[in-house]
Amino acid sequence: MKPVVAIDGPAGSGKGTLARMIASHFNFVYLDTGLLYRTVAFLSIPLIKIRTMGIKELLDTASTLTNEQLRSAGNSARTSDIAKMPEIRDVMTHLQQNFIDLYKKQGTVLDGRDIGTVVVPDACCKLFITADLKERARRRFIDLKDKNTTFDEIFNNIKLRDIQDKSRKIAPLTCDETYIMIDTTDMSVQESFKICREEVKKAFMNSEFRSFV
Ligand code: C5P
Repeated sequence: MKPVVAIDGPAGSGKGTLARMIASHFNFVYLDTGLLYRTVAFLSIPLIKIRTMGIKELLDTASTLTNEQLRSAGNSARTSDIAKMPEIRDVMTHLQQNFIDLYKKQGTVLDGRDIGTVVVPDACCKLFITADLKERARRRFIDLKDKNTTFDEIFNNIKLRDIQDKSRKIAPLTCDETYIMIDTTDMSVQESFKICREEVKKAFMNSEFRSFV
């Protein structure tokens, strides 16, 4: 088992916000794995180049890009397209596993689509965060600075990404009995966090990583 909180779920479910709050509360190190895929998509980094990069170099590269660049509707769609490629997923999975090893003494929180299924199936705690599509689109619409985008565009973009992420052959977004499912549709961030925090605590207390929480 690894001292990892694996958080998966669809776009706009609140998993990023919750992952950050969990990491900060338990003093774990956080990795937004969507950011890695978005960086590769935005810069069209060739596979041969990604294979030579370490996780720190990729994170440094990501930090040179703005939120608007990374999170635009165009780059979101591009990201979902490149995320279907098995060779890309393979090298990205290794980079994420390196991150987990790098911070194994402190513990890590990773959020994405295949964290608990592929990247770290033996994570100490697996959470699947979800919410209604309409509510997720509403949250993204509020978050997005680019007000040239309409609610309908965001709704359709997320709907399409949901379909692509769930139906791809490799590492599709899915949830099984090893996850704790949390539906945040009718919950505030604080309410959702409280539930996540208790689940993480319970899972770690019942494991060899009791001293981490
Ligand atoms: O989490 P975020 O919305 O930033 O992810 C952007 C896209 O990156 C997702 O729609 C998905 O296609 C891809 N992704 C993935 N596996 C991950 C993280 C993100 O396929 N672990």
